[in-house]
Amino acid sequence: MLRQVCISFVVGLLVPSCAGVPSTHHQSELSETERAEYLRKGQQTAMSLKKDLVSELTAAISRGGPVQAIAVCKDKAAEITQAVAKQGIRIGRTSWKLRNPANQGPPWTQSVMEGWKTTRLNTPSPAQVMVTEDGKIGYVEPLYTQPLCVNCHGVDLKPEVSSQLKKLYPQDQATGFHAGDLRGVLWVEFDR
Ligand code: HEC
Repeated sequence: MLRQVCISFVVGLLVPSCAGVPSTHHQSELSETERAEYLRKGQQTAMSLKKDLVSELTAAISRGGPVQAIAVCKDKAAEITQAVAKQGIRIGRTSWKLRNPANQGPPWTQSVMEGWKTTRLNTPSPAQVMVTEDGKIGYVEPLYTQPLCVNCHGVDLKPEVSSQLKKLYPQDQATGFHAGDLRGVLWVEFDR
């Protein structure tokens, strides 16, 4: 504890805060109760997005095939993002290989994702809760590639899927994934 305080004091001296960045010292540790509470809240929020997305994607694919389902991935996620924003909660999906550049996550998600890249669905990484640099609470969990996902994120895409994706996402990097691979993460940010 004392060591951590010393380290953050030294780091604080070495890294002067930039203009515009709040310089208040945020409590960087969470109590066990807080950690458990935010883990539960994060899981709950994440679950609503995942459940809706997967069921709508499955339904849309069986109704009209993957080309018709492409819009679901975008619209459903946006709908849920807006719904939780009303409660002061931000949510998103991100990856180191993005389809939509607008899905860039907050900086704190990057290092977590880096550490999870080589993990797989059969040995999943546990969700994490942390205090972010600007004093918010971050929740992050891995998103693994399921057989359903390879329709649009896999190696051999149907030509019509491929051309539709190229049209909508000219900078698409989110293909080449195999079932079981880490596809990205789901993150949630709460005000403390
Ligand atoms: C029908 C095609 C389709 C399927 C199936 C699909 N996705 Fe996507 N995925 C997309 C599209 C389109 C986007 C970009 C959405 C946007 O514009 O925000 C996307 C974006 C994402 C992102 C956000 C990061 C990025 O690259 O922009 C993640 C993470 C993701 N998908 C994971 C998954 C997972 C996991 C599955 C399986 C459960 C899945 N997707 C199934 C089409 C699909």
